Amino acid sequence: MRVIGIETSCDETAVAVYDDVRGLLAHRLHSQIAMHQAYGGVVPELASRDHVARLLPLVREALAAAETPREAIDAVAYTAGPGLIGALLVGACFARGLALAWHKPAVAVHHLEGHLLAPLLEPDPPELPYLALLVSGGHTQLVDVAALGRYRILGETLDDAAGEAFDKTAKLLGLPYPGGAALARLAHRGTPGRFAFPRPMLDRPGLDFSFSGLKTAALVALRGRDLDEDTRADVAYAFQEAVVDTLAEKTRRARARTGHRRRGGAGGVGANLRRRERLAQIARAQGARLYFPRPEFCTDNGAMIALAGCLRFAAGGGAGLAARAHWGLDELALADDAAR
Ligand code: KG4
Ligand code: ZN
Repeated sequence: MRVIGIETSCDETAVAVYDDVRGLLAHRLHSQIAMHQAYGGVVPELASRDHVARLLPLVREALAAAETPREAIDAVAYTAGPGLIGALLVGACFARGLALAWHKPAVAVHHLEGHLLAPLLEPDPPELPYLALLVSGGHTQLVDVAALGRYRILGETLDDAAGEAFDKTAKLLGLPYPGGAALARLAHRGTPGRFAFPRPMLDRPGLDFSFSGLKTAALVALRGRDLDEDTRADVAYAFQEAVVDTLAEKTRRARARTGHRRRGGAGGVGANLRRRERLAQIARAQGARLYFPRPEFCTDNGAMIALAGCLRFAAGGGAGLAARAHWGLDELALADDAAR
């Protein structure tokens, strides 16, 4: 079975072809970051228009690279939500139009399910169930990936997502949008110990997170100081350590809630090397094994949508839905049950 996957939930247009036997055959991506940078964040209308312009060429390229004629495609999967509604509608209308023209079914995919299953794109993938730490620009969640479509949220952020906190703090440090990766590079040159930031929520039981206070801590640390290179790097270091420590400690505690020995990393902040290091330390100490997708499959991509679409289609799901801006992972199982 071969599925083409289309991702347009935010500022990346991405297309991939996935085969249930041969795995990922091709993936193509266009990032809109350069276009949005001038505005300091994603401009939804510009995002939608750009998806319109990019989709068809990317589909042609991905099919050619996968050496797959359109007749060999069994289903067209697309991100139905959550995300920017205009951007989602472009992808949904395009994918459903393609499916209609090709006389193939369209399969609606939950963007976060794509992230959660991304570790399965790699050689030697984890078996289900596993514990996933999903950390992106819009979400920070510890999720029990019990089975396909059965995701239990064990803890989540009460305010900013970790990626959002990275981006906002990067802005304070004068880095261009989206600053997560640039902040991580700056932190690499920072001196440990000059600033001490709080570890939010570690003094409380439960697995929820809170990151909005860290941005304020960075603001306070920078106030009245020269924004020289060393100070910026030291603040970036303290900020990154505080986020990574918090994520790692809550992941450690989640072990007691699920008992899973397999752990998956997912979402854009999954590309953070310091986070990978800390999670690997904790996993070693707990006898658990880590499964991380390569960095390009941590951030938004079409491969995870093609894969999730393929699994969903094989399981008889994903029909009927067009696009939803807000769509909780916990509603997914209910939607599946209703569709059956
Ligand atoms: O998953 P993603 O591509 O998009 C969403 O679905 O949100 O995540 C994007 C987020 C942004 O906030 C970006 O700054 C952050 O991931 N990010 C990073 C790194 N690379 C991307 N944060 C920290 N360190 C990185 N290396
Ligand atoms: Zn994402």
